[in-house]
Amino acid sequence: MPSWIIIAFIIIGSLVALKLLFAFSLVSVFPITQGAMFHPSARVRVRTFLDHVPMEAGDLLVDIGCGDGRVLREAKRRYGIRALGFEVNPVAYTLARLRTLGMEGIDIRWRNFWYVNIRDADVVFCYLFPDVMGRLAGKLEAELRPGTRVISCNFPLPGWRHSEVLYPESSLHGDPIYCYHFPQALHYPDTLEDRSSPQ
Ligand SMILES: C[S@@+](CC[C@H](N)C(=O)[O-])C[C@H]1O[C@@H](n2cnc3c(N)ncnc32)[C@H](O)[C@@H]1O
Repeated sequence: MPSWIIIAFIIIGSLVALKLLFAFSLVSVFPITQGAMFHPSARVRVRTFLDHVPMEAGDLLVDIGCGDGRVLREAKRRYGIRALGFEVNPVAYTLARLRTLGMEGIDIRWRNFWYVNIRDADVVFCYLFPDVMGRLAGKLEAELRPGTRVISCNFPLPGWRHSEVLYPESSLHGDPIYCYHFPQALHYPDTLEDRSSPQ
């Protein structure tokens, strides 16, 4: 058999194996992620977030469900913050660890964020799924300190009033990014009614 056929088989086989591994990693953690699959934020979305949410060197940015860690890496480069990410998908976690090798001040943990207290955060970033946003609002209300900012990609926090909505300049990646100040986001009379109504 000519060697080019063998090489082609190896390449195609490797690609198929990688695809299968990726699919398996998504399915294996589905009961935890409840639909918030590993889908990294587009660069333009990360840039838009960082342009509009300045941070001080030393602030703690927590990405709950950090994927390959791109938000944390970019924020670290731009503002010199401390970065903490939680991830349960083994492929995403491995990528995040590899891509942050040698970067000081970025801590990536293979943890289910529902079981971690995030009270030390100065800024919380999330790109999750509508099914978990109500539960997440409750977790944030129980744990965050006054002055914390919360950024939610694509989906709002039920019952919270945003301070700003960002729309990245992109026809493909222009979905809203919701920005909140805690606890001001809760201080309006219809908060509890809002939580149960569709957004
Ligand atoms: C849509 S991706 C966003 C990744 C990253 N934040 C970004 O913007 O590029 C959501 C990530 O959250 C992770 N995730 C969902 N639920 C989680 C949980 N309970 N604990 C830790 N990670 C979780 C998923 O595995 C997935 O990688």
